[in-house]
Amino acid sequence: MQTTAAIVREKAGKFEMTQVELADLRADEVLVRVVGVGVCHTDLICRDQLYPVSFPAVFGHEGSGVVDQVGSRVTKVQPGDHVVMTYRACGHCPACKRGDPTRCANIFGCNFAGARGDGSPTIHQGGLPVHANFFNQSSFAAYAIAHESNTVKVDKDVPLELLGPLGCGVQTGAGAVINSLKPAAGSSIAVFGCGSVGLSAVMAAALVGCTRIIAVDPNAQRRALARELGATEAFDPTSDNVVEAIQKSGGVDYSLECTAIPSVFRQAVDSLAVPGVCGLVGAAPLGTEVTLDMNSIMFGRTVIGIIEGQSVPDVFIPKLVELYRQGRLPLEKLVTFYRLDEIDQAARDSADGKVVKAILRP
Ligand SMILES: NC(=O)c1ccc[n+]([C@@H]2O[C@H](COP(=O)([O-])OP(=O)(O)OC[C@H]3O[C@@H](n4cnc5c(N)ncnc54)[C@H](O)[C@@H]3O)[C@@H](O)[C@H]2O)c1
Ligand SMILES: [Zn+2]
Ligand SMILES: [Zn+2]
Repeated sequence: MQTTAAIVREKAGKFEMTQVELADLRADEVLVRVVGVGVCHTDLICRDQLYPVSFPAVFGHEGSGVVDQVGSRVTKVQPGDHVVMTYRACGHCPACKRGDPTRCANIFGCNFAGARGDGSPTIHQGGLPVHANFFNQSSFAAYAIAHESNTVKVDKDVPLELLGPLGCGVQTGAGAVINSLKPAAGSSIAVFGCGSVGLSAVMAAALVGCTRIIAVDPNAQRRALARELGATEAFDPTSDNVVEAIQKSGGVDYSLECTAIPSVFRQAVDSLAVPGVCGLVGAAPLGTEVTLDMNSIMFGRTVIGIIEGQSVPDVFIPKLVELYRQGRLPLEKLVTFYRLDEIDQAARDSADGKVVKAILRP
């Protein structure tokens, strides 16, 4: 079938609204009518080729929508169901078998290869293949093909257009705290970078009972929003000596790096108490190196890389929906809606820090 999609034709190029051909649905695939799709920093670093992608390409990996058709072997969802599309894991490597899909050995290929596992494209234009199947959805489009396994059914009594970011940014930040770092009530955490990922981490830290929640971001609006969402302190790294200020009171039990800036990662490690755990979430260009004082780790600190908030989406996303429903995860405070054809503006506003989470509505 034909659908409208936002296609990028060159490195750092514009998004062009155009008609593309979606492939026939396979037995294990789901056709979703996209109702909302968040813009994630990861879409933009792929557009800018900091991760290897070829062009033309259709990105978008925080889609929510209504199931339109299902393949013959799909049992998890049916037409009319409301779904969130998320990342995909292979399902057969050792990590997947032990129920730890964010550590999937094939996660890069599953989400960034630009085509299905067998190399077949899910999108063509003018008979030529398009780099798509991005996170098994390429949801910067009116319709998206997802795999059954990365499609999560959600309740119909919550605003569907708001839920797409649960599939990446929100589950990444909230899950990093709830699933991975697991701070005990009463502990302290510093979140470096208050975009949608960092702010989701701040909300989660408040939810699990951290009593000292430090938000670090040069953007004053984002620091203010972090305070509204539960941060007890906020630092501006352009004027405050953040590490010194945090260490003055003994350091934090946990820190989370949500900027992908090496020097900020170093600050996140150096802000820890002993013992302390730093979660690395920011996605830097492949090959990015960082320096650490080896002794800062040797005396009992830990650094852990966290993908997609160590979330098992079928389990975690419904929990996030329930927290939202109860008013304990106020997602709407992060969101600004745009039309899909305003995607360039949305991407600019996201990159400029004017909006936290842009959601496009086809
Ligand atoms: N690990 C994963 O699975 C995963 C998933 C989603 C996103 N990500 C990555 O997480 C990162 C955050 O994503 P996002 O959508 O929130 O991005 P974002 O660009 O909205 O947020 C980054 C924030 O860092 C702030 N910042 C800049 N310089 C800083 C400094 N010196 N100190 C503190 N903060 C500073 C910016 O003002 C901004 O608010 C990105 O790198 C993204 O690619 C990783
Ligand atoms: Zn796997
Ligand atoms: Zn993302």
